[in-house]
Amino acid sequence: MEHVVSLTDRLASIGGRRSSAGRGHIRVDGVAITFGSGRKAHHAVMETSLDIKPGEFVCILGPSGCGKSTLLSSIAGYVRPSSGEVIVDNVPVRGPGPERGMVFQQYSLFPWKTIRENIVFGPKVAGRPKAELEAIGATFLEMVGLAKFAQSYPAELSGGMQQRVGIARALANSPSVLLMDEPFGALDAQTRLMMQESLLEIWSAFGITVVFVTHDVDEAIFLADRIVIMSASPGSVIADLKVTLPRPRSQDMATTDAFMELKRACHERIRAESLKAFAQQSQ
Ligand SMILES: Nc1ncnc2c1ncn2[C@@H]1O[C@H](COP(=O)(O)OP(=O)(O)O)[C@@H](O)[C@H]1O
Ligand SMILES: [Mg+2]
Repeated sequence: MEHVVSLTDRLASIGGRRSSAGRGHIRVDGVAITFGSGRKAHHAVMETSLDIKPGEFVCILGPSGCGKSTLLSSIAGYVRPSSGEVIVDNVPVRGPGPERGMVFQQYSLFPWKTIRENIVFGPKVAGRPKAELEAIGATFLEMVGLAKFAQSYPAELSGGMQQRVGIARALANSPSVLLMDEPFGALDAQTRLMMQESLLEIWSAFGITVVFVTHDVDEAIFLADRIVIMSASPGSVIADLKVTLPRPRSQDMATTDAFMELKRACHERIRAESLKAFAQQSQ
């Protein structure tokens, strides 16, 4: 924890990066998303409303193809809702913005830039002064434990390390919201657990809102304050469960009664939806 405290201090020293407190309120207001039109129309997301509080950690859980990525992309501003709107801190989302950082499952780093250059990319484009870029680079490299790799290129790093750079790159823009689309889905089980733990540390140091898409029930319970479960395609919210496990979380909580009970509740709802999704996909 000492590491986190000193990190927070360093963040404060480079321009009030903890100012995300109170920011990051997401309202998904009657959002429906249809791709194509006429007979080719494909309803990806049915009318959905969600209110996500500043600093909340929300996991969106649902079977493959149910519209999780599409819904997340509408918050990121990459996909425009066909009806309804997304409002972040009272401002309607009209496109991507630095206050909404996104981390994808596929490591989307610039292969021709060093790790440090990848991390400071956003602030550099935003025209931040050189001294600040130095400080941001050093801080975030340290935060994700990759200071030694500042001058390396993405291809020289493992998948887990690249994903840490992806998180650092998103955070370097001081977002109030971090949107994560199955970010640990391609990692091996052990690395995945470590990444979950460090994500929670980062989240508690920054106080930002996280919306994390996953199809892994254990991952959702371990991370979230709240789990939003989506139905099979076309997706809509079918359950909104509070996770009352204490924080800080530890992996050994997975054997507690509270964890098991929640897991049962999630599986019960998801099982029926997964069967529906499977039936649809095999038609
Ligand atoms: N750009 C697009 N154009 C047409 N259909 C799309 C597009 N993006 C996603 N879809 C479709 O929308 C549905 C939901 O996709 P997605 O949000 O990726 O699901 P999930 O992330 O839950 O697996 C799928 O049937 C998918 O094929
Ligand atoms: Mg997806």
